[in-house]
Amino acid sequence: MPQSLKGKHDHGPLKFPDGFLWGSATSAYQVEGGNIHSDWGDLAGLACDQYHRYKEDFELAKKLGHNAHRLSIEWSRIEPQEGEFDQSEIDHYVKLLKYLKKLNMTVMLTLWHFTLPMWVADKGGWENGKTVFYFERYLKKIIPYIGDYVDLWVTINEPGVYIYETYIERVWPHAKKSLWSQIKTFLNLASAHKKAYRLLHQTYPAGKPVGMANNIMSFESFHKHSFIEQLAVSLNDFFINHLFYFLTRGTHDFLGINYYFHVRFKHKGVTPLPDSRLMQTHDISDLGWEVYPEGIFDALTDLSDDIPIYITECGIASTNDDRRNRFLLMYLQEVSRAIRSGVNVRGFFYWSLIDNFEWHLGFEPRFGLVEVDYETQKRTPRNSARVYSEIIKRNAIPHDLLKLLGHGIRVEDVLKEKIEE
Ligand code: BGC
Repeated sequence: MPQSLKGKHDHGPLKFPDGFLWGSATSAYQVEGGNIHSDWGDLAGLACDQYHRYKEDFELAKKLGHNAHRLSIEWSRIEPQEGEFDQSEIDHYVKLLKYLKKLNMTVMLTLWHFTLPMWVADKGGWENGKTVFYFERYLKKIIPYIGDYVDLWVTINEPGVYIYETYIERVWPHAKKSLWSQIKTFLNLASAHKKAYRLLHQTYPAGKPVGMANNIMSFESFHKHSFIEQLAVSLNDFFINHLFYFLTRGTHDFLGINYYFHVRFKHKGVTPLPDSRLMQTHDISDLGWEVYPEGIFDALTDLSDDIPIYITECGIASTNDDRRNRFLLMYLQEVSRAIRSGVNVRGFFYWSLIDNFEWHLGFEPRFGLVEVDYETQKRTPRNSARVYSEIIKRNAIPHDLLKLLGHGIRVEDVLKEKIEE
């Protein structure tokens, strides 16, 4: 074989690096239930009742072979009124984090995942520069209690998505049309991240890595040589994928990447707009999001720097679990390809462990590896949970699983050892 082709015909299983973190992600408001003091009010109702069922859920993740878990804590529970901290809620989170540690899980904790206490929202939320101070005061209060049980910190989740849904789509609380509000919110979230980063490093000088989770999108132009479409690609790439990192440079021990979207720009009329026609060539999720595995490879190689990367979220809303199996296999093949190309990816957190409250879209989208019956709160692992377990168990994508990429092949026929219920 010519030297240049060496290693390119490696037909062994696609191995992941030793110590790779395998887990799933959730956020407090989306799973806990009984949250009444946040700006979302009680829209999620009982949600998955994880507030009471956390042991069952964490044990399930453990049984499915996960060695890590990403979750968040709810600020509005801990500080329901300005400056009044509820010790029983702090104790609750300590209990919950301790339980994860007892199960020997690596804990990745998100400090802010979209919801605000009502009193903060009433003062303008993240538009108000004072919220950065309130956030830091809250962190100073809780970190001493919970810090020992956290391994990796995620300061904030997806500033871009928050701004998009609140100020552009206007489907989230306090929606309004204002470019100025978008800019202030973005800058204040960047400042909150930096403050949290410094605070955590002062508290744990020996190092507990700190990062944030950013929504990273892959962009492409419809006509490969269209100037205007290429310009749209470059501008969107800069604003959506790089600007937050640029404003907060020097305050990331790792990059946390949430990957869901691929967008093609097509020049129609004056402005290039996202075009959805080509999506039909790929699988799509129940939300109409294109399954485009190559995009995660592009995103990883594009963002690869000299710090580790964790895929802090990646998943599909689908009631067709065969689709989720294919999604997992295809996306993880691309992650493995990125690792083999030299990208320092250290972990993957599937969104989500269990079906949950998908914000303004309610409970219909099903992202879970585990199905939730909202009437009975019964949890039932889907076949995809077993496929994911198998990958985790081998720390590789075994060849026999790749058969599932064909349509109509049953998991039972491929998985020899079944994971006991
Ligand atoms: C968010 C999650 C959300 C998921 C699926 C991410 O943008 O962090 O809260 O449920 O995507 O839409």
